[in-house]
Amino acid sequence: MSNAQVLTVPPEPQASADGIGNNDRAVHGGPELSIIVPTFNECGNVVELTNRIRDHLRDVSWEMIYVDDDSPDRTANLVRELAASDFRIRCIQRIGRRGLSSACIEGMLSSSAPYLAVIDGDLQHDERLLAQMLAELKTGTLDIVVGSRYSDGGGIGDWDAGRARMSRVAGRLSRTLVPDGLRDPMSGFFMLRRSAFDGALRNLSAIGWKILADLFASSQPPLRFKELPYEFRPRHAGDSKLDSLTLWAYAMLLVDKTIGHIVPVRFVAFSVVGAIGVGVHFAVLTLLFRFAKTPFVQSQAIATVVTMSFNFVLNNVLTYRDERLRGMQWLRGWLSFNLACGVGAAMNVGLATYLWQLSGKWYLAATAGIAAGAVWNYAVTKRLTWHDPSA
Ligand code: GDD
Ligand code: MN
Repeated sequence: MSNAQVLTVPPEPQASADGIGNNDRAVHGGPELSIIVPTFNECGNVVELTNRIRDHLRDVSWEMIYVDDDSPDRTANLVRELAASDFRIRCIQRIGRRGLSSACIEGMLSSSAPYLAVIDGDLQHDERLLAQMLAELKTGTLDIVVGSRYSDGGGIGDWDAGRARMSRVAGRLSRTLVPDGLRDPMSGFFMLRRSAFDGALRNLSAIGWKILADLFASSQPPLRFKELPYEFRPRHAGDSKLDSLTLWAYAMLLVDKTIGHIVPVRFVAFSVVGAIGVGVHFAVLTLLFRFAKTPFVQSQAIATVVTMSFNFVLNNVLTYRDERLRGMQWLRGWLSFNLACGVGAAMNVGLATYLWQLSGKWYLAATAGIAAGAVWNYAVTKRLTWHDPSA
């Protein structure tokens, strides 16, 4: 028999009372716990984290799923090297995508384990808590156990005053999303049972960084939770990826959870950008027409192109932050955005003119034109420029 044949011959099934071969169960039994680790540029940390998990979870059947957003420091390659010598480690590498929440969700979706944990890849979360979290969940009275910096015995480590304040403000804002008693709704460290994840899955917004708040807000019935205190540690290596735009993503999550079922949150963001664009248009127009004495038609044309470019840049950074275009794609995106919005502008003027002639009410005609243009611009650029297929 050749080697190839040996590899493809399945093991002889050994019948048992429940119909599953004993042999199969022993050989193929899946892990009890999946530990999801979102990573972006964590090369200096993943080896140490993996070693610590190996040390601390000796009595648990676990797997680690690293979800990496194509980190420039090639974290994904390093994880695959680790995986080559330990089948419990896997890597999901996402291309052209960003976002902590969506990374965690996709990691959880790739798992079959009954218990799911999320932990940061930079060793700020205390991995020694995992065994206790699992024991708590196994009592059967809880859906989720949260690692908490704000429970008695926990702490935020060496954060500066600004960061601590930002975390507290974000926590307070989340009060509408999470249950009253939850003291650390911004935590990125928790473990839940699969049924709880499945129950929330289809309502998740998957926007930004606040996966825990998203889970709580998306669950029906409410999650039964417990918090375990831990001390937030300093980062092991590398830098934090959270910046001021994290707050914007957080605002998008809040809007989505509040009115997302009526109007897509991206459309709200797109409209906010459009409204700012109107200000830019008038600023440029005033500068050219009033001060530089450029003819009106030219001034208006230049203001239009400047505004469209401004809107494109802002939408790329804010509205489509998780699918941001770069390099050649950026250039192609800018062209298609201008093209689509050019048509939108023509529609706007056409419809407004028609309605004005019909009704004589200029403000109503203008509003209808603007609304139609905005919907067109959003619907077309969403697919044409950012290739986003969602509704
Ligand atoms: N896949 C993926 N994609 N991972 C990401 C991304 C992303 O876009 N952005 C950050 N990460 C990973 C990081 O590599 C790290 O493992 C983890 O997510 C947390 O990111 P940090 O950059 O270390 O965040 P932090 O320490 O400032 O914030 C932490 O504390 C907050 C509480 O104040 C995180 O745990 C947050 O989730 C938490 O809300
Ligand atoms: Mn961190």
